Amino acid sequence: MKKLITASKWDLSGKYVIITGATSGIGLAAAKEIAALGANIGIVARNEGKANEIAKQMKESSDGGGTVDVFLADMASQQSIHRVAAEILERCPRIDVLANNAGALFENHQLTDDGLEMTWAVNHVGPFLLTMLLLNRLKESAPSRIITTASHGHKMAKKGIDFNDMEAEQLYKPLKKLMGGPTLRYGQSKLANILFTAELGKRLEGTGVTSYCFDPGLVATNFSQNNGRLARATMAVMKLFSRSPEQGAETLVWLAETDEISNQTGQYYIDKKAELPSEPARDRQAANLLWMVSKQQTQLTDTVDL
Ligand SMILES: NC(=O)c1ccc[n+]([C@@H]2O[C@H](COP(=O)([O-])OP(=O)(O)OC[C@H]3O[C@@H](n4cnc5c(N)ncnc54)[C@H](OP(=O)(O)O)[C@@H]3O)[C@@H](O)[C@H]2O)c1
Repeated sequence: MKKLITASKWDLSGKYVIITGATSGIGLAAAKEIAALGANIGIVARNEGKANEIAKQMKESSDGGGTVDVFLADMASQQSIHRVAAEILERCPRIDVLANNAGALFENHQLTDDGLEMTWAVNHVGPFLLTMLLLNRLKESAPSRIITTASHGHKMAKKGIDFNDMEAEQLYKPLKKLMGGPTLRYGQSKLANILFTAELGKRLEGTGVTSYCFDPGLVATNFSQNNGRLARATMAVMKLFSRSPEQGAETLVWLAETDEISNQTGQYYIDKKAELPSEPARDRQAANLLWMVSKQQTQLTDTVDL
């Protein structure tokens, strides 16, 4: 297997890495590379057949010597996330890295069983809940890391997150939808990834748990294949200008394995460098408000003391 990164300093061998969205695209490429660096991997996936097949292939082809476990969860369902977190805590005595990578864009307005707008639920609320439920184990395993796959797409949300329209009903109204409302909603959810990373970094200071997010660039994956013909055709054209999943995964793998960032937390990276995200993504008040809203949306108000 071709190694994306040759010099490993923080040394992933023997470490346990949980990664969501590893059945396709960036997450799959990252999981393979992290396994090749010697880590034990826990894949969190919604599609059992796909996840088991990937785990089998990884076990057969990985020269890293680590284990590969499959955990099943739909990141749109809080009940499912609670169930998988309990299973992870039962089976994993330590978690060195949690990579919140699963993500999607829904061009039609949909609500989850929890009553949340789907793009927001999968991209932000799901990762928030999973992180909170695994946080004590991450603290016990410190030094440990939380990595979230954000996007340059956060820049579309120039006015920040609309906290007055949390279910994005306005953005999906016919005219707004035609003008790119669902894409803007995706941008808001990726902005949330960056604000969450910053707030988490601040709140976890002194615990040995650090928090990072990154922009993988434009990557040729299965992204948006759940949407209509026009969206799929657009993605097919964009693929011509895109990086490979392996290239898109490079910064995720680097954030998991380098010791260059051990003293940093809460930051946004592009191509293995800390970069400033947009102004709304640096808004401390919005980060704090997002934290409060996320606790309400996950009903963790009384249980998470951070
Ligand atoms: N592609 C890009 O250009 C680009 C650019 C910037 C940021 N990103 C971000 O990169 C991340 C990975 O996306 P990708 O481009 O690699 O797309 P992808 O090929 O579609 O992979 C998405 C992954 O997320 C999983 N997933 C989606 N919804 C889920 C749910 N409800 N529950 C559990 N798993 C779910 C998918 O599982 P299935 O295999 O079951 O579908 C898949 O493993 C996303 O957070 C995305 O926002 C992508």
